[in-house]
Amino acid sequence: MTDSPLYFKYHEIRNRTLALINFLQDEDCCVQSMEETSPVKWHLGHIAWFFETFVLQHYEKPYKPFHEHFAPMFSSYDKAGKTHPDPKRGLFTRPALGEIRKYCQNVDARMGGVLVLAEQDEMLRMLIVLGMHHEQQHQELILTDIKHLFSQNPLYPSYRSFSPDSPSCPGANLPLLEWHQFTGGLVEIGFEGEGFSYDNESPRHKQFIQPYSLATRLVTNGEYLQFIEAGGYENPVLWLSEGLDWVKSNKRYHPLYWRADKNEW
Ligand SMILES: [Fe+2]
Repeated sequence: MTDSPLYFKYHEIRNRTLALINFLQDEDCCVQSMEETSPVKWHLGHIAWFFETFVLQHYEKPYKPFHEHFAPMFSSYDKAGKTHPDPKRGLFTRPALGEIRKYCQNVDARMGGVLVLAEQDEMLRMLIVLGMHHEQQHQELILTDIKHLFSQNPLYPSYRSFSPDSPSCPGANLPLLEWHQFTGGLVEIGFEGEGFSYDNESPRHKQFIQPYSLATRLVTNGEYLQFIEAGGYENPVLWLSEGLDWVKSNKRYHPLYWRADKNEW
């Protein structure tokens, strides 16, 4: 059982989630910095809740939840039962992070028994794969939410530090940015083929698109700074009118999270 690709993938994704949290202090994991974000430890409990609710509740015999009050605390879907209001997730000082880690470990151990059955049960396999993609969505949310939280702190903590000279620093040794031209026209978009997709990625359909260019790599902060210094935020040629109105009325001259310290960014 432990050599099945699904079992391996399940644990690979969970290890990635736990590795993301390892850069943080316990206190970082408890706070909710705005209504649209969630504390890191809520994300972790919610990931376990998802597998418990949508997989174990249907396939574990007998089903025994880790804690009877965790479901409404870590649910985000009213359809799956009573749900605690989203903006108040930061009030959960309890359960402590350590207890939520135990919740995850408990769900993992119980999932071990169910993962064996997935080889012969296509619906079960699909639910587990959905849970894994759901967990990866929350990996992204953990990072976006912690970024907003840290931006509110006068110490401006770094999630992770890189020396600019280090070869592992994102953006080090990048090739020259070049543009590829595409003619556009009638194209097919949407998911097609084997494997997982979300329902909003299908059906595959035709779409007309204008000619466009795509860069050969992501833009760097340094290149974006050139855009700012060249007056990019005030140049109407580069904006749709609604976007430019928003930029002007909100007095935005640089991206969120950019901060000028004396004359340096
Ligand atoms: Fe979710």
